[in-house]
Amino acid sequence: MTEDAKPARLLAGELWWKAGIVYQVYPRSFQDTNGDGVGDLKGVTARLDYLAWLGVDAVWLSPVYRSPMADYGYDVSDYCDIDPLFGTLADFDALVAEAHRRRLRVIMDFVPNHTSQDHPWFREARASRDNPKRDWYIWRDPGPDGGPPNNWISNFGGPAWTLDPATGQYYYHAFLREQPDLNWRNPQVRTAMMDVLRFWLDRGVDGFRVDVIWHLMKDEGLRDNPVNPDYVAGEPEINSLVQLHSADQPEVMQVIAEMRAVLEEYDARVLIGEIYLPLERLVAYYGVDLSGAHLPFNFQLIQTPWHAPALARLIEEYEAALPEGGWPNWVLGNHDQPRIAARVGDAQARVAAVLLLTLRGTPTLYYGDEIGLGRVPIPPERVRDPWEHNEPGRGRDPERTPMQWQPGPQAGFSTVEPWLPLDPQAQTCNVEVLRDEPGSILTLHRRLIALRREHAALSVGDYRPVSVDGDVLVYERRHADETIRVALNFGHGDCKVDADIAVAQPEGAREGWEVLLSSAGGRRGERPLDGHFALAGDEALVLIRRAAAAQG
Ligand code: GLC
Ligand code: CA
Repeated sequence: MTEDAKPARLLAGELWWKAGIVYQVYPRSFQDTNGDGVGDLKGVTARLDYLAWLGVDAVWLSPVYRSPMADYGYDVSDYCDIDPLFGTLADFDALVAEAHRRRLRVIMDFVPNHTSQDHPWFREARASRDNPKRDWYIWRDPGPDGGPPNNWISNFGGPAWTLDPATGQYYYHAFLREQPDLNWRNPQVRTAMMDVLRFWLDRGVDGFRVDVIWHLMKDEGLRDNPVNPDYVAGEPEINSLVQLHSADQPEVMQVIAEMRAVLEEYDARVLIGEIYLPLERLVAYYGVDLSGAHLPFNFQLIQTPWHAPALARLIEEYEAALPEGGWPNWVLGNHDQPRIAARVGDAQARVAAVLLLTLRGTPTLYYGDEIGLGRVPIPPERVRDPWEHNEPGRGRDPERTPMQWQPGPQAGFSTVEPWLPLDPQAQTCNVEVLRDEPGSILTLHRRLIALRREHAALSVGDYRPVSVDGDVLVYERRHADETIRVALNFGHGDCKVDADIAVAQPEGAREGWEVLLSSAGGRRGERPLDGHFALAGDEALVLIRRAAAAQG
């Protein structure tokens, strides 16, 4: 890569993933270019100008590897090839080159916990008990009653073990039976998978998001998981057991350190880990002396009730739990979770955008959230996600529907009926319509992103809580002599932010505050009136302290 072609939108080194914004693309649903109703790599490349316009720094692609698509690409049958549905390796190389030309980084999804049952490794492994690849997966004799070797449950419901009748043993799968778990205790598996990382790093990818990283190591003795006394009927079946032995084992840190060491062979690549664990366990994934994931994905905003006090507590606890030097990150949604607008409503989705893009730490933005996509209804005959078939109501199709680009047929996503339905509001909820509306949620995202880029206080500044009063949360971001305050109204009622509280400075300082952005649009440059800023229901304000500014 020439010096020029190097993505350097931000500062050098690791600062790109600290100060930058990650945008998740679910490639099946971004842009179809060959009229089969499924998004593809050429489609992502065709939309890079949009991402550059939006102002994000990196694109994380959900899996595009060769796959029979039992779990839509999270069942990989060849880690070093692109599925023909998405294109070719040449298309991938073109995407990376075009992204880098626009100073956008590319983050690959890496799926090391399990392969597809069609992966040649698993085909060999299941061929016979003494096949050299047998131990690359997790095989056990049946339990005493002939049933599964232990009580572990699949994340998609049902037993986590499937009997292979030909060889008389069960294999373990934390997800679908089509997704056998690799045995990460086997050194050959480790070597093979580290080579996969190098394969993509050599092609120029800027990092990885590692799928279910906390699952990689299981208890060596495969002990039964304890029953969860707090289980409430109706929750996913996996929650009926405490995942004490099936995941989050101490040995996983060594594996992650090995992955990290591979990335360190290259310059400034990022390692992101998918981890659904309580805070105190989550932060362990930064690793001893930060030898683990750069960014253990923080999903707490997805799991915390949408109220000012709960969110204030969360931010405080997360900030306090971070290890020295550990860089925070925040996520509002992804391809596995109901969309933010579906969870909190359209009005609060705007407040959420301000929160995501003004907190301290790398934000990851899920495609479509910037146009306010909500929960798209999926008629029964259009269901695709296997989880929905196993456990109705759990399906993830509603958050995986096509991106909406313009009014007209298929919202510009495809020329044919897409693999999942479009939002019924696609004629108005699309990029072309919203990009020109000053008050749209898309405009809000673009402004916030620009603001974050413009103000070091927002991208790399310190965080300090200021107040939580009723529905209103106020915090401060500060860098050098720049001070920014964010006031978010998580309620629907109008109120006032006391500019004295908002200032919390000795006498006379209040006139220093000025509105940089309102989630409702407009108001830029506004000063407090009678010592207050009006804050409407569902509104968030970003204020800056203008040291030199005096007010009459
Ligand atoms: C992760 C992915 C999810 C997938 C699962 C199994 O949670 O995000 O989509 O189904 O892993 O790979
Ligand atoms: Ca296609």
